[in-house]
Amino acid sequence: MRITVVTAFPDFLKSFLSTSIVGRGVAAERLVVDVLDLRDFADGAYRQVDDYAFGGGGMVLMAEPLAKALEKAAGDGARPFVLGTSPQGAVLTQEMVESLAAQEHLFIVCGHYEGLDERFTRRFVDMEVSIGDYVLTGGELPAMVLIDAVARRIPGVVGKESAVEEDSFFRGFLDTPHFTRPSVWRGESVPEALLSGDHEVVRSWRRRQAVLRTLRRRPDVLSRANVQPYLPCGAYVALLHHPVLDRLGNVTTTAVTGLDLHDISRTCTTFGVRRFCVVTPLEGQREMVRTIVAHWTEGYGATFNPKRGEALRRIKVFPEFRGMLRWVEKKERNVPLVVGTSARSRKGAVHWLELKRRIVEDARPVVFLFGTGWGLDESVLASCDVQLQPIRGGEGAYNHLSVRSAVSVLLDRFFGWR
Ligand code: ADE
Repeated sequence: MRITVVTAFPDFLKSFLSTSIVGRGVAAERLVVDVLDLRDFADGAYRQVDDYAFGGGGMVLMAEPLAKALEKAAGDGARPFVLGTSPQGAVLTQEMVESLAAQEHLFIVCGHYEGLDERFTRRFVDMEVSIGDYVLTGGELPAMVLIDAVARRIPGVVGKESAVEEDSFFRGFLDTPHFTRPSVWRGESVPEALLSGDHEVVRSWRRRQAVLRTLRRRPDVLSRANVQPYLPCGAYVALLHHPVLDRLGNVTTTAVTGLDLHDISRTCTTFGVRRFCVVTPLEGQREMVRTIVAHWTEGYGATFNPKRGEALRRIKVFPEFRGMLRWVEKKERNVPLVVGTSARSRKGAVHWLELKRRIVEDARPVVFLFGTGWGLDESVLASCDVQLQPIRGGEGAYNHLSVRSAVSVLLDRFFGWR
């Protein structure tokens, strides 16, 4: 990976780029960092890089020297991804860092004074980044923060990949507490789990602590976190074809559709859901599902598109939903939390974020029930442990998502990371 920084104060970055982990990454050429002195691209004897703001105010970095520096950095190759440091930018998060680390070449403009001439920003800057809601004297510290955060995502820069994975904001969660020798210090000993020598015990203790810390200290980050690696048990999606409602509100049985099988199993696989349970009392329909799954997992489909088989393999068919819940309980050796979903509001329905908090705290398997037709029958919803509030678009009363869309939206809220 290559990073070019343009600054009016290049000395600022010198020791940073030759010290510690970033310094080692640069020395080992895991990343190449070029620092360009903005004054080298300025005209005139004074090599002027800034001027007064039109309309009054402080100094503004001029567009032309910045554009020339960018042209030099790009050379004959592709234009780099251009970042401007500014308190007006989007506040940096770990997820933004992950996507920046996937770029081949970053070009960071260190803002100063009142910032950059807006015409340069409009024409060339792909993303303005702030490192927090406070104002610094210049963009060099933010540029170093960006380089540091991106560098540790480049393979080989931080020695042990697992250390990076388990760090703060791994999938949006805070880090676990850490301890070192001696095991007893001033009468206080290290938690027993960490001394157990059992890798699985250590891992689950750490994940639990990360959950508790996040809930206590930063509940705000939970909405954007992927809770999947922190669930001690599995998550399941079930699609019920009976008992569901028809257009007139009568209980009916719907037909299985191929689109649902393909699309929901793909969504479940993307978000790490253990099984997609298809529930229908009609043996002919169950047989059809098995035939479709076999085509994609063992038949011609398996060679035509193996990725599809990987998803459809998650499908398991059941004649009846209570039997399906017993199967989950047996498999997980734990009673699942059953979550009902509906496009209709129901008294006591909870907000998805409340349920997200609960599933990481409860340490139980979770089954999300979705209905086909006009939705799950009241008898099913009444038997659920929790019902989720409907997904709302905020545009009038129309509320008719396909079940495939509803599954995607909900799984993204629980197991997506942003
Ligand atoms: N320049 C000045 N303050 C800044 C901040 N908080 N983030 C990014 N760039 C800045």
